[in-house]
Amino acid sequence: MIFWFSGTGNSRLVAKRLSDKLDEPMLEINALTLAHCHVTDAERIVWVFPIYSWGVPPVVRRFMGRVQLDCDVPHHMVCSCGDDIGLANAMWRGDLAARGWKGVSSHSVQMPNNYVSLPGFDVDSPRVEQSKLEAAVARIDAVARDIAGGRCIDDVVPGSIAWIKTKVIYPLFVKYEMNPGRFKATDACVGCSKCARICPLNNIEMKHSRPEWGRECAMCLACYHVCPNHAVAYGKRTEGKGQYMAPSDL
Ligand SMILES: Cc1cc2nc3c(=O)[nH]c(=O)nc-3n(C[C@H](O)[C@H](O)[C@H](O)COP(=O)(O)O)c2cc1C
Repeated sequence: MIFWFSGTGNSRLVAKRLSDKLDEPMLEINALTLAHCHVTDAERIVWVFPIYSWGVPPVVRRFMGRVQLDCDVPHHMVCSCGDDIGLANAMWRGDLAARGWKGVSSHSVQMPNNYVSLPGFDVDSPRVEQSKLEAAVARIDAVARDIAGGRCIDDVVPGSIAWIKTKVIYPLFVKYEMNPGRFKATDACVGCSKCARICPLNNIEMKHSRPEWGRECAMCLACYHVCPNHAVAYGKRTEGKGQYMAPSDL
Protein backbone atom coordinates (compact mmCIF):
# COMPACT_ATOMS: atom_id res chain seq x y z
CA MET A 1 0.00 0.00 0.00
CA ILE A 2 1.33 3.43 -0.94
CA PHE A 3 0.12 6.32 1.22
CA TRP A 4 0.82 9.52 -0.71
CA PHE A 5 0.40 13.24 -0.31
CA SER A 6 1.15 15.81 -3.00
CA GLY A 7 0.49 19.47 -3.74
CA THR A 8 1.89 20.18 -7.18
CA GLY A 9 2.14 16.60 -8.40
CA ASN A 10 5.80 15.57 -7.92
CA SER A 11 5.04 13.12 -5.12
CA ARG A 12 2.03 11.83 -7.04
CA LEU A 13 4.38 11.01 -9.95
CA VAL A 14 6.75 9.24 -7.54
CA ALA A 15 3.87 7.30 -5.95
CA LYS A 16 2.42 6.36 -9.36
CA ARG A 17 5.72 5.02 -10.70
CA LEU A 18 6.40 3.09 -7.47
CA SER A 19 2.87 1.70 -7.63
CA ASP A 20 3.50 0.43 -11.17
CA LYS A 21 6.91 -1.05 -10.34
CA LEU A 22 5.91 -2.63 -7.01
CA ASP A 23 2.34 -3.50 -7.93
CA GLU A 24 1.09 -1.69 -4.83
CA PRO A 25 -2.25 0.13 -4.59
CA MET A 26 -2.23 3.88 -3.91
CA LEU A 27 -4.15 5.73 -1.24
CA GLU A 28 -4.12 9.53 -1.16
CA ILE A 29 -3.84 11.45 2.09
CA ASN A 30 -6.59 14.06 1.78
CA ALA A 31 -9.58 15.48 3.65
CA LEU A 32 -11.51 12.23 3.28
CA THR A 33 -8.81 9.78 4.35
CA LEU A 34 -7.70 12.08 7.17
CA ALA A 35 -11.20 11.79 8.57
CA HIS A 36 -11.22 8.02 8.31
CA CYS A 37 -8.80 5.40 7.01
CA HIS A 38 -8.69 1.74 8.04
CA VAL A 39 -6.29 -0.68 6.36
CA THR A 40 -6.68 -4.33 7.26
CA ASP A 41 -4.27 -5.96 4.86
CA ALA A 42 -1.05 -4.86 3.14
CA GLU A 43 2.30 -6.38 2.18
CA ARG A 44 4.16 -3.19 3.14
CA ILE A 45 3.49 0.51 3.58
CA VAL A 46 5.33 3.04 1.42
CA TRP A 47 4.98 6.66 2.57
CA VAL A 48 5.39 9.15 -0.29
CA PHE A 49 5.31 12.90 0.41
CA PRO A 50 7.13 16.18 -0.29
CA ILE A 51 9.62 17.64 2.18
CA TYR A 52 8.43 20.78 4.00
CA SER A 53 11.12 22.85 5.70
CA TRP A 54 13.41 19.85 6.14
CA GLY A 55 10.69 17.83 7.82
CA VAL A 56 7.61 15.70 7.24
CA PRO A 57 4.54 17.79 6.26
CA PRO A 58 2.32 18.22 9.35
CA VAL A 59 -0.65 16.86 7.38
CA VAL A 60 1.24 13.60 6.78
CA ARG A 61 2.23 13.41 10.45
CA ARG A 62 -1.42 13.88 11.40
CA PHE A 63 -2.41 11.02 9.11
CA MET A 64 0.38 8.86 10.57
CA GLY A 65 -1.07 9.46 14.01
CA ARG A 66 -4.63 8.59 12.95
CA VAL A 67 -4.66 5.83 10.33
CA GLN A 68 -5.89 2.47 11.58
CA LEU A 69 -3.49 -0.28 10.48
CA ASP A 70 -4.36 -3.85 11.33
CA CYS A 71 -1.20 -5.35 9.88
CA ASP A 72 2.37 -5.57 11.16
CA VAL A 73 4.32 -4.83 7.99
CA PRO A 74 7.56 -3.07 7.00
CA HIS A 75 7.38 0.68 6.35
CA HIS A 76 9.34 2.64 3.75
CA MET A 77 9.65 6.38 3.16
CA VAL A 78 10.15 8.00 -0.25
CA CYS A 79 10.11 11.78 -0.21
CA SER A 80 10.34 14.24 -3.06
CA CYS A 81 12.37 17.39 -2.42
CA GLY A 82 13.76 20.35 -4.29
CA ASP A 83 17.24 19.97 -2.80
CA ASP A 84 17.74 18.31 0.58
CA ILE A 85 15.73 16.86 3.45
CA GLY A 86 17.69 17.57 6.65
CA LEU A 87 16.79 14.88 9.19
CA ALA A 88 13.23 14.37 7.92
CA ASN A 89 13.77 10.62 7.74
CA ALA A 90 14.63 10.57 11.46
CA MET A 91 11.43 12.54 12.13
CA TRP A 92 9.46 9.97 10.11
CA ARG A 93 11.10 7.11 12.02
CA GLY A 94 10.20 8.81 15.30
CA ASP A 95 6.55 9.14 14.26
CA LEU A 96 6.51 5.49 13.19
CA ALA A 97 8.01 4.39 16.50
CA ALA A 98 5.28 6.30 18.37
CA ARG A 99 2.79 3.97 16.66
CA GLY A 100 4.96 0.89 17.28
CA TRP A 101 5.79 0.50 13.58
CA LYS A 102 9.16 -0.29 12.05
CA GLY A 103 10.82 1.80 9.34
CA VAL A 104 12.97 -0.26 6.99
CA SER A 105 14.19 2.26 4.43
CA SER A 106 14.13 5.92 3.50
CA HIS A 107 14.93 7.49 0.13
CA SER A 108 14.81 11.02 -1.24
CA VAL A 109 14.14 11.95 -4.88
CA GLN A 110 15.10 15.39 -6.18
CA MET A 111 12.26 16.96 -8.13
CA PRO A 112 11.49 20.51 -9.34
CA ASN A 113 11.15 22.96 -6.46
CA ASN A 114 7.70 24.40 -5.74
CA TYR A 115 8.57 26.47 -2.65
CA VAL A 116 8.06 30.19 -3.33
CA SER A 117 6.55 31.69 -0.21
CA LEU A 118 9.67 33.05 1.51
CA PRO A 119 11.97 35.76 0.12
CA GLY A 120 14.80 34.26 -1.90
CA PHE A 121 12.93 31.08 -2.84
CA ASP A 122 11.58 30.54 -6.35
CA VAL A 123 10.83 27.73 -8.78
CA ASP A 124 13.70 26.22 -10.78
CA SER A 125 14.58 27.39 -14.29
CA PRO A 126 12.91 25.36 -17.08
CA ARG A 127 16.28 23.71 -17.82
CA VAL A 128 16.76 22.59 -14.19
CA GLU A 129 13.11 21.47 -14.00
CA GLN A 130 13.58 19.32 -17.07
CA SER A 131 16.83 17.75 -15.94
CA LYS A 132 15.44 16.97 -12.47
CA LEU A 133 12.39 15.25 -14.00
CA GLU A 134 14.58 13.23 -16.37
CA ALA A 135 16.90 12.11 -13.56
CA ALA A 136 13.93 11.24 -11.34
CA VAL A 137 12.85 8.38 -13.60
CA ALA A 138 15.99 6.30 -13.05
CA ARG A 139 16.12 7.32 -9.41
CA ILE A 140 12.56 6.14 -8.68
CA ASP A 141 13.24 2.84 -10.45
CA ALA A 142 16.33 2.32 -8.25
CA VAL A 143 14.26 3.16 -5.15
CA ALA A 144 11.63 0.61 -6.24
CA ARG A 145 14.34 -2.06 -6.52
CA ASP A 146 15.57 -1.30 -2.98
CA ILE A 147 12.05 -1.51 -1.60
CA ALA A 148 11.25 -4.72 -3.49
CA GLY A 149 14.45 -6.25 -2.13
CA GLY A 150 13.59 -5.19 1.42
CA ARG A 151 16.91 -3.32 1.74
CA CYS A 152 17.50 -1.68 5.13
CA ILE A 153 18.92 1.61 3.91
CA ASP A 154 18.78 5.38 4.41
CA ASP A 155 19.61 6.77 0.97
CA VAL A 156 18.74 10.44 1.35
CA VAL A 157 20.38 13.86 0.82
CA PRO A 158 20.44 15.50 4.29
CA GLY A 159 22.30 18.63 3.09
CA SER A 160 24.35 20.91 5.31
CA ILE A 161 23.49 21.81 8.95
CA ALA A 162 20.79 19.15 8.83
CA TRP A 163 20.23 19.09 12.59
CA ILE A 164 19.59 22.84 12.75
CA LYS A 165 17.28 22.76 9.72
CA THR A 166 15.07 19.99 11.10
CA LYS A 167 15.25 20.56 14.85
CA VAL A 168 15.26 24.37 14.91
CA ILE A 169 13.93 25.77 11.62
CA TYR A 170 11.15 23.19 11.01
CA PRO A 171 9.25 23.90 14.27
CA LEU A 172 9.54 27.66 13.67
CA PHE A 173 8.33 27.23 10.10
CA VAL A 174 5.32 25.18 11.19
CA LYS A 175 4.42 27.74 13.86
CA TYR A 176 4.91 30.98 11.93
CA GLU A 177 5.06 30.25 8.19
CA MET A 178 2.10 27.93 7.65
CA ASN A 179 -0.51 30.65 7.73
CA PRO A 180 -3.45 30.31 5.30
CA GLY A 181 -4.58 33.79 6.35
CA ARG A 182 -1.92 35.21 4.02
CA PHE A 183 -3.47 33.69 0.88
CA LYS A 184 -5.59 35.98 -1.25
CA ALA A 185 -6.91 36.22 -4.80
CA THR A 186 -5.69 39.26 -6.74
CA ASP A 187 -7.73 41.28 -9.24
CA ALA A 188 -6.55 38.88 -11.96
CA CYS A 189 -8.85 36.17 -10.49
CA VAL A 190 -11.62 35.15 -12.89
CA GLY A 191 -13.36 32.77 -10.45
CA CYS A 192 -12.51 29.57 -12.37
CA SER A 193 -12.31 27.64 -9.04
CA LYS A 194 -9.31 25.53 -10.10
CA CYS A 195 -7.64 26.44 -6.78
CA ALA A 196 -10.62 25.15 -4.82
CA ARG A 197 -10.82 21.94 -6.82
CA ILE A 198 -7.13 21.06 -6.44
CA CYS A 199 -6.92 21.67 -2.67
CA PRO A 200 -6.32 18.22 -1.08
CA LEU A 201 -7.89 19.36 2.18
CA ASN A 202 -10.98 21.04 0.66
CA ASN A 203 -9.87 24.19 2.41
CA ILE A 204 -10.91 26.67 -0.29
CA GLU A 205 -14.49 27.79 -0.71
CA MET A 206 -15.72 29.88 -3.64
CA LYS A 207 -17.79 32.82 -2.40
CA HIS A 208 -19.22 35.22 -4.98
CA SER A 209 -16.80 33.67 -7.54
CA ARG A 210 -13.76 34.37 -5.35
CA PRO A 211 -11.73 31.83 -3.36
CA GLU A 212 -11.66 32.06 0.42
CA TRP A 213 -9.17 30.06 2.45
CA GLY A 214 -10.16 28.28 5.67
CA ARG A 215 -7.85 27.11 8.45
CA GLU A 216 -7.19 23.53 7.24
CA CYS A 217 -4.20 24.38 5.03
CA ALA A 218 -1.36 21.93 4.34
CA MET A 219 0.75 24.73 2.80
CA CYS A 220 1.19 22.57 -0.30
CA LEU A 221 0.90 25.67 -2.56
CA ALA A 222 -1.16 23.78 -5.15
CA CYS A 223 -3.67 26.67 -5.19
CA TYR A 224 -0.91 29.16 -6.02
CA HIS A 225 0.76 27.05 -8.71
CA VAL A 226 -2.39 25.80 -10.47
CA CYS A 227 -3.89 29.23 -11.08
CA PRO A 228 -3.98 29.91 -14.85
CA ASN A 229 -3.93 33.67 -14.23
CA HIS A 230 -1.26 33.67 -11.51
CA ALA A 231 -3.92 35.32 -9.35
CA VAL A 232 -3.21 33.57 -6.05
CA ALA A 233 -0.81 35.44 -3.77
CA TYR A 234 0.74 34.60 -0.40
CA GLY A 235 0.99 38.12 0.97
CA LYS A 236 3.64 40.01 -0.98
CA ARG A 237 6.07 37.13 -0.88
CA THR A 238 4.96 35.49 -4.11
CA GLU A 239 5.12 38.69 -6.15
CA GLY A 240 7.17 38.10 -9.29
CA LYS A 241 7.67 34.41 -8.50
CA GLY A 242 7.21 31.55 -10.97
CA GLN A 243 4.73 28.69 -11.01
CA TYR A 244 5.21 24.94 -11.34
CA MET A 245 2.89 22.00 -11.82
CA ALA A 246 4.26 18.52 -12.45
CA PRO A 247 3.52 16.89 -15.80
CA SER A 248 0.79 14.24 -15.77
CA ASP A 249 3.35 11.49 -16.40
CA LEU A 250 7.12 11.01 -16.28
C1 LIG B 1 6.03 24.49 2.39
C2 LIG B 1 7.15 23.90 1.57
C3 LIG B 1 8.39 23.69 2.13
C4 LIG B 1 9.43 23.11 1.37
N1 LIG B 1 10.62 22.83 1.97
C5 LIG B 1 11.58 22.16 1.29
C6 LIG B 1 12.80 21.75 1.93
O1 LIG B 1 13.01 21.95 3.11
N2 LIG B 1 13.74 21.13 1.18
C7 LIG B 1 13.57 20.87 -0.15
O2 LIG B 1 14.47 20.31 -0.78
N3 LIG B 1 12.40 21.20 -0.78
C8 LIG B 1 11.41 21.83 -0.09
N4 LIG B 1 10.22 22.16 -0.70
C9 LIG B 1 10.03 21.77 -2.11
C10 LIG B 1 9.21 20.49 -2.25
O3 LIG B 1 9.56 19.54 -1.27
C11 LIG B 1 9.39 19.85 -3.63
O4 LIG B 1 9.23 20.76 -4.66
C12 LIG B 1 8.40 18.69 -3.76
O5 LIG B 1 8.84 17.85 -4.80
C13 LIG B 1 6.97 19.14 -4.02
O6 LIG B 1 6.17 17.98 -4.06
P1 LIG B 1 4.67 17.96 -4.57
O7 LIG B 1 4.69 18.43 -6.03
O8 LIG B 1 4.29 16.53 -4.48
O9 LIG B 1 3.85 18.83 -3.72
C14 LIG B 1 9.19 22.76 0.02
C15 LIG B 1 7.93 22.99 -0.54
C16 LIG B 1 6.92 23.54 0.21
C17 LIG B 1 5.57 23.78 -0.41
